[in-house]
Amino acid sequence: MLELINVTKTYESPAGGGACVLKDITLKIAPGESLVIVGPSGSGKSTLLNIIGALDRPTSGKVLFDGNDLTKLSEVQLARIRNQHIGFVFQLHHLLPQCTVLENVLVPTLVDRSSRRRHACPEPAERGDEARAVELLARVGLADYLLHRPGELSVGQRQRVAVVRALINKPRLLLADEPTGSLDETTAESIADLLVESRSGFGLGRDELNRTEKAALIVVTHSIRLAERIGPVVELTGGVLKKPGTCGEAAG
Ligand SMILES: Nc1ncnc2c1ncn2[C@@H]1O[C@H](COP(=O)(O)OP(=O)(O)O)[C@@H](O)[C@H]1O
Ligand SMILES: [Mg+2]
Repeated sequence: MLELINVTKTYESPAGGGACVLKDITLKIAPGESLVIVGPSGSGKSTLLNIIGALDRPTSGKVLFDGNDLTKLSEVQLARIRNQHIGFVFQLHHLLPQCTVLENVLVPTLVDRSSRRRHACPEPAERGDEARAVELLARVGLADYLLHRPGELSVGQRQRVAVVRALINKPRLLLADEPTGSLDETTAESIADLLVESRSGFGLGRDELNRTEKAALIVVTHSIRLAERIGPVVELTGGVLKKPGTCGEAAG
């Protein structure tokens, strides 16, 4: 489903020259598989996840999604792939404070609609989307919070809303960047449960053939517990991916 081939990323510095953050990244992930990326702060984990999620472009190399090279696509085409196939959970949830929980979850379903007003909360959604949002929110224990605003929720509840929002469009690839970074242990555990279940089809709905398509999951985390539950783990250091504890052996 997703394959990175010899991906590099260099940030140009204002003083001239460039900082090479990713040197030679090659990785592959199939539906139902998962991968945990660990590494020191500043090692390029977020940069890598943003490239995988089509939020950023590599300096060189290929990013294949279903065999299509994302580096060759326009911004509009990338936005479409992101919206239809990729779910993103950020460390900070990025919820819209003025919108309710339900409205926040429905934001990704509105992208293709024309009558979108900036800064407005989503209009009443299509029935299917709304029913699915309500179902997913209930599934994560937020049935009684549909009309609350993010400011009225705990940090862990907000992060659960962010996970549901990432799942609302039935993504085939779910990316999470330190999703439990600011959470206590118990809350982190409930987010881990959600991520693990999302991979095996939770939240993905069923198509007309009554099959559930599995999602692929890539998680950046410092949490050993989360890494153990999701695994396998690769470490990003010095711009390359390695299996932890090895010296230079490239990860597949
Ligand atoms: N937009 C940017 N412009 C310039 N440098 C950046 C940018 N984003 C990240 N960097 C640099 O790239 C390196 C890796 O950053 P990041 O991917 O955020 O690391 P991590 O997520 O592992 O902490 C850091 O040195 C950071 O300063
Ligand atoms: Mg980061």
